[in-house]
Amino acid sequence: MHPSTLLIALLAATATALPTLDARANTSVNPDSVTFTTCTDPGVSIDSHDINVAILSICGTIAGTIQKCQGSPASTTGASGTAVLKLNVVNQGSTINVSKGRWEACMRAARAVCGNSPFKSECVGGTAGTSGGNIAFELTAA
Ligand SMILES: *[C@@H]1O[C@H](CO)[C@@H](O)[C@H](O)[C@H]1NC(C)=O
Ligand SMILES: *[C@@H]1O[C@H](CO)[C@@H](O)[C@H](O)[C@H]1NC(C)=O
Repeated sequence: MHPSTLLIALLAATATALPTLDARANTSVNPDSVTFTTCTDPGVSIDSHDINVAILSICGTIAGTIQKCQGSPASTTGASGTAVLKLNVVNQGSTINVSKGRWEACMRAARAVCGNSPFKSECVGGTAGTSGGNIAFELTAA
């Protein structure tokens, strides 16, 4: 199958599986969004819909019109079904101040490496406070 045919088939399957998510979602990957990505359990595949819902469940929620993490936490969890996402600031004293766009870009970049298998990675930037720095994030299976 031609790669573009496969991509269209995958996009069609995704759109069918995710009727409530925005079909125009950004799909471009910038590998520099993340650093230190390690696939921690390559034999495991987590349900992609669960991952997609978990992505929007961090910081209480960033679903719908909410455009960034609310409340400036130092750590947060997003979980749905079999997918668990844990985020922690790398530098003690900073807080998570990540926009939905940046967070989704970090998840796309990490999933471009590990697919839907568990991983550890760091989202470059996305923090506030004098210590600044990255956000360490981890996908595990519930
Ligand atoms: C889409 O994602 C890419 C890579 O992360 C980013 O550079 C670009 O600004 C994004 N585009 C929009 C419209 O958000
Ligand atoms: C948090 O991020 C926003 C951009 O998303 C920025 O305008 C704001 O200054 C940041 N807050 C702090 C305390 O750095």
